[in-house]
Amino acid sequence: MDEPRDLDDVRRIAEEILEKLGRVIIGLKGEIRLVLLSMLSNGHVLLEGVPGIAKTTIVRGVARLLGLTELEVEISGIPYRGFARIQFTPDLLPSDITGSLVFNPSTRLFEPRFGPIFTYMLLADEINRAVPRTQSALLQAMQEKQVTIGDKTYPLEIRDKGKFFLVFATQNPVEQEGTYPLPEAQLDRFLVRILVGYPESLEAEKSILKLHSRRLHEPIEELDRVASPEWLVQAQNIVAVSVEETEETLDYIARIIRATRPEVFEPAGEYFELGASPRAGIALLRAAKAHAAFRGKNIVEPTDVDAVLFPVLNHRLIPRMEKLVEYEEKVRYNARIKLIRDGLELIKETVV
Ligand SMILES: Nc1ncnc2c1ncn2[C@@H]1O[C@H](COP(=O)(O)OP(=O)(O)OP(=O)(O)O)[C@@H](O)[C@H]1O
Ligand SMILES: [Mg+2]
Repeated sequence: MDEPRDLDDVRRIAEEILEKLGRVIIGLKGEIRLVLLSMLSNGHVLLEGVPGIAKTTIVRGVARLLGLTELEVEISGIPYRGFARIQFTPDLLPSDITGSLVFNPSTRLFEPRFGPIFTYMLLADEINRAVPRTQSALLQAMQEKQVTIGDKTYPLEIRDKGKFFLVFATQNPVEQEGTYPLPEAQLDRFLVRILVGYPESLEAEKSILKLHSRRLHEPIEELDRVASPEWLVQAQNIVAVSVEETEETLDYIARIIRATRPEVFEPAGEYFELGASPRAGIALLRAAKAHAAFRGKNIVEPTDVDAVLFPVLNHRLIPRMEKLVEYEEKVRYNARIKLIRDGLELIKETVV
């Protein structure tokens, strides 16, 4: 369980993680690959999909393979857990996530009670069920990678100690009563939004039944660790410094990002009200680099950008209302997603 020395080491273990997860999760190969890719880019993940399609299972599976499910460590006096899950509900308070000061009668001092956010991997289930104030507390911590309790600020990421901090949030796309959709402006704290769908075929559906038929426990519980948190931090460093970009790739990313902006490229305005920011461009470059690393390349190419374009941009673009209404009349399911796909397709065609 050594730390990786080069890109080959990163790729070998990443492939092993994919292979192990593939034994206990049927299908969803692309989705699982995107989760790993995002982690290698040190990016938070938003998983969107209806209940019961293995969103939680994927995240717990990765946590097990990194040896995080049982982990509890103390770094500079702060206790961190390997893995924590928070169910978001309307009555969840910001302090239920971050922690608070509690009075200790024996010392007669206020002492910090560290909330569940003091973890390596945080599963934030049904994030859109919490009130905006609570959502903001999480999104702010994700952005800053630190949390303030009382008048002291504590780190959530300490890279030289192998401590990373990544959030995996899930949400159900079906508009329901009692949900508070995350504002687009905050959604871009997530590197990718991964849309998880139903099993692709009858065969896959049956394989899931077979996998569970003689077990009363979750198959992911049979997974043993293949890497460590320190491995991931080092792997992120290697991807960041060892995968090089060409002028051509930078040009391609910059052109795509600009073409999403109605102010710059008028036809984009037919689909989108708001285009992508420079932050979105950085996200695209990071994810594309991780994609190149996965292919065993140390140079990121435009094809890597294409491969991650939709997951990196789909939650950052605001569809134009009139166009959305038009799509909703045409297609019954996933109108919003189809609109974004078509809009991005148009943009890609004009850029190449
Ligand atoms: N593709 C799949 N392969 C293997 N098992 C699956 C698959 N899809 C669902 N399951 C099984 O279905 C159950 C539900 O999965 P899970 O709890 O991960 O769903 P979820 O998407 O997180 O749902 P919710 O939104 O309700 O939390 C688990 O027992 C899981 O193992
Ligand atoms: Mg779940």
